[in-house]
Amino acid sequence: MKKALVIYQSRTGITRRFGQEIGQYLSSKGLDVKVIPIQEYSPGITDEADVVLLGCWTAGWMVMLQSPDRHWIRFTKQLTDLRDKKVALFTTYKLLTGRMFDKMREHLAGKIDDGAPELKSRNGRMSDSLKHLIDSFIG
Ligand SMILES: Cc1cc2nc3c(=O)[nH]c(=O)nc-3n(C[C@H](O)[C@H](O)[C@H](O)COP(=O)(O)O)c2cc1C
Repeated sequence: MKKALVIYQSRTGITRRFGQEIGQYLSSKGLDVKVIPIQEYSPGITDEADVVLLGCWTAGWMVMLQSPDRHWIRFTKQLTDLRDKKVALFTTYKLLTGRMFDKMREHLAGKIDDGAPELKSRNGRMSDSLKHLIDSFIG
């Protein structure tokens, strides 16, 4: 059974809900899934995972300067090399994600390969299009 690890940073719970919904969907597809906040991350925890999803809420000035928050950025510095795994990125937002995913990638440079799919949701709920994206991601 393939193992998936979903790691999220959430302030008010919407990104936690999104991480949990992604996790439930992956479980329904037969993966062995664990969903954790960044605070529970420790190096080595990703070793067993085949699939890793990294998520953070969108911080910015609503219409510009979107970026992951400082806790997530600190978390990426401890993150081990994930280039032998399938990795996807996710976020929740209110108005605009702007360059959020580019910024996430900048902080993950050298740890993930190019082409990680991007999943985003305003309310943390899954949609059919997100399910299709995840289907092609996990193959
Ligand atoms: C300080 C702050 C800045 C935010 N900046 C943006 C933004 O630039 N663009 C956007 O679409 N949403 C922005 N939001 C909304 C959050 O990204 C959104 O509510 C998110 O779902 C919160 O996730 P959480 O409940 O996991 O913390 C901002 C929220 C806060 C509190």
